[in-house]
Amino acid sequence: NLTLNTLFVGKPVIHLPTCHSTNTYARNLAAKERVVEGTVILTSEQTAGRGQMGNRWESEPYQNMTLSIVLCPTFLKISEQFHLNIAISLGIYNFLNQYLDDELKIKWPNDILYKHYKLGGILIENVIKGQYIEHAIIGIGLNINQGGFQTPKASSLKLLTGQHYSLEELIPKLLKSIEETYLRLRQYQVNDLKNEYLGCLFRCNKKYTFKSDVLFEGKIVGIDEYGRLLVEGETQEVKAYNFKEIAFIY
Ligand code: BTN
Repeated sequence: NLTLNTLFVGKPVIHLPTCHSTNTYARNLAAKERVVEGTVILTSEQTAGRGQMGNRWESEPYQNMTLSIVLCPTFLKISEQFHLNIAISLGIYNFLNQYLDDELKIKWPNDILYKHYKLGGILIENVIKGQYIEHAIIGIGLNINQGGFQTPKASSLKLLTGQHYSLEELIPKLLKSIEETYLRLRQYQVNDLKNEYLGCLFRCNKKYTFKSDVLFEGKIVGIDEYGRLLVEGETQEVKAYNFKEIAFIY
């Protein structure tokens, strides 16, 4: 039982003890019937979680957050999809920042990192109508109490702080924080949101090694209006990259 202090996010919460993928569940539900904006699908055990680029999302049952939020950003054109990514990743960032210091970063486009460890990810699936987004399924996976990982690249809030957290207490805080940034997006504060997003961006404004066709030294200088990553290369020229066109080298 969650105690919510939101206006509409989490009203209602559909809690499934177990679920294949909350994103798939939400998508099927929204295809079948009218779903109220803010509806949350939450599960304690996700058996076929999906990540970006067709990857699987593994999460230890009962330890972490695996949920999807249905939003209706009908004010966003398809070309503005990335604005939603900005608002959501910032909402998650602000929530986690209450527990962690400034080593917490958003890795473009929307991974949540602490130092080099991935703490969580976002999978946004938009349903389009004409030129606009009709509704969006916001899938969020956050590692909270998981005690260990197969991969050295992942971590949890518990591993980082040494504390155990009550999901019942944390989930309302997450939903509130996402509602705040989403409402700001709805009020057209996208420029402010974008600046805040850039302020927490992993590897921004300093030289690092990247890989596109070849390895190169570059500096992230921003994102463009479509959400492409703007990287200044060795000869000071700035190029825009799509998600699959550039990789970070550690
Ligand atoms: C990523 O690859 O980083 C995105 C991971 C998103 C995982 C969440 S968990 C809840 C929701 N349901 C899914 O099947 N995926 C998302």
